[in-house]
Amino acid sequence: MTVKRICLASDVPTNEMREFTTDGGDKLLVANSGGEYFAVQAICPHQDVPLCDGFYDGCVLTCHQHLWQWDIKTGEPVGGIAEAPLERFAVFVEGGEVFVGTRGALNVGELFSGLSESTLSKLQGLAKAEEHPAGGALYQAGDPADDFFVLDSGRIEFQIGRDERTSPAGFMLRKGEVFGWAALLDAHPTRIASARVLEPSRVLRINGKQALAVLEADPASGYLAMRRLAGLIARFLAAPGAR
Ligand code: FES
Repeated sequence: MTVKRICLASDVPTNEMREFTTDGGDKLLVANSGGEYFAVQAICPHQDVPLCDGFYDGCVLTCHQHLWQWDIKTGEPVGGIAEAPLERFAVFVEGGEVFVGTRGALNVGELFSGLSESTLSKLQGLAKAEEHPAGGALYQAGDPADDFFVLDSGRIEFQIGRDERTSPAGFMLRKGEVFGWAALLDAHPTRIASARVLEPSRVLRINGKQALAVLEADPASGYLAMRRLAGLIARFLAAPGAR
């Protein structure tokens, strides 16, 4: 999906929802869950009923017609009545405005470019944007490897070793490049390198297990991503350091 501006963030107060129509005429429901924004289909998947007429408590959306319910963050049915999930759309907030679509690092990255739009959109939905000041550490060797990262802007340095006995691993990252990819491997529960922020950086943090579930649901995209991951690992093995 190309990026489309939907509304001002302030148009959807905390724990409320609003329906909007995009420039292309598509209707979307935008929900604010504790300050995080989510976009889903505007019409109930059961019958032709606007979901904006339903109930929303900040987490669970309920269609008022026959009380189907969904988790707004995942679009998955909850409560045992709903028989279909909600279609979700990737959302990001920038400059106080809400946009839908896939933007930034994910769709230019070497691991994800070329994946199907729906899978890219789901991965984008998992991504949490983080800003990191220079000098901090994203992770240290030995930390749990739950999440991987995509660099959107800035500069990250990798170090191998621990404590005082560390040395740069010699990697320069480009926008869109993935690091911390041990989170995508079953056999690597902890980090084997440290990632230090050399200059103010923006990264997307994505949970590895959730990303794998998305890729497993789309075998063609999953195969492409795994082939590229194999390429990343081969490059790692050929380099003097480790990520
Ligand atoms: S129309 Fe929404 S639950 Fe039936």
